Amino acid sequence: MVKKAVKKTKGKKKQIVIHASTKKEKVQPHEAYIKTGIAGFDALFEKGYGLHPGDAVLVEGGPGSGKTIFCLATVNGLCKQGKKCLYMSFEEPEVKLIDHMKHFNWEVDNYIKKGLLRIQRFDALDVARSVEALLSAAKKELLIDIDTSLFPSDFKPDFVVIDSLTSISSAFSGQESRFRIYMEQLFRYLEKNGITNFLIREVSTPSHMGSTFKEEGEAVSFLSDGIIVLYNVIYDKGNRGAAIEILKMRGVNFSKKIVELDIVDKKGVIVNPDKILRRDGKAGFTLT
Ligand SMILES: Nc1ncnc2c1ncn2[C@@H]1O[C@H](COP(=O)(O)OP(=O)(O)OP(=O)(O)O)[C@@H](O)[C@H]1O
Ligand SMILES: [Mg+2]
Repeated sequence: MVKKAVKKTKGKKKQIVIHASTKKEKVQPHEAYIKTGIAGFDALFEKGYGLHPGDAVLVEGGPGSGKTIFCLATVNGLCKQGKKCLYMSFEEPEVKLIDHMKHFNWEVDNYIKKGLLRIQRFDALDVARSVEALLSAAKKELLIDIDTSLFPSDFKPDFVVIDSLTSISSAFSGQESRFRIYMEQLFRYLEKNGITNFLIREVSTPSHMGSTFKEEGEAVSFLSDGIIVLYNVIYDKGNRGAAIEILKMRGVNFSKKIVELDIVDKKGVIVNPDKILRRDGKAGFTLT
């Protein structure tokens, strides 16, 4: 099994060289791969594969497509495995996120009590201001101390969710180069500390569906190790649903298909790896 992973990674050598931030140590023993705990989603990876520890993964989708709940479900799955998670919210306040988790009967209070979970709200404008101050103090564009300006110094997580890059980038509006510098520093910090991370990004049109416009925050795509896309689905009969796919995940084998996703009260996020969205002549759908 390990042999297979070596072969696959060798096959992608060119890609790894192009993206300077990716790691040569990509080949992991299979038990080192990270599972989200969302069974149907984990089943999209070929047997024995999962997320690489330290990966930076974009979680993209339109408004209300399930980005926040999907990431909270992953946090739940990882806390259950004893991993330490930090949820950095630039949108909803802590209490609301805790409430969302309680709706699915996830043991959020217990995780927090055990020191496995911290949910913290940040003000994106404060972050932009502190980056500004650090840059003018340093008189250089590369000396941002991400560690103290953004991360709680008393909490060392294995996994971080940033909800969302879209909110951070709008606080940097008109200063795109600053946003880019900030993102590069943030990625470097996470990479240096081996912190696996999900970076939520709201996109008005799913990025791989032929759109050519450049969105704010586009700079981060090239830095990411993986992209998970969530879709709002409109079926021809008029009903709505949701779907998910792994669009990209460097160095691992996964199924390339868009499958149904359900968010069910009291239960959580259910991904059906065998329910592939397809047009069968009678029934069609549109992805938004
Ligand atoms: N307890 C629940 N039970 C059933 N469905 C829920 C529950 N909580 C949320 N949902 C559904 O999940 C959907 C997605 O919510 P979520 O907040 O994750 O979307 P999002 O992509 O983060 O949206 P936004 O772009 O506004 O941040 C909601 O629109 C709602 O339909
Ligand atoms: Mg959200």
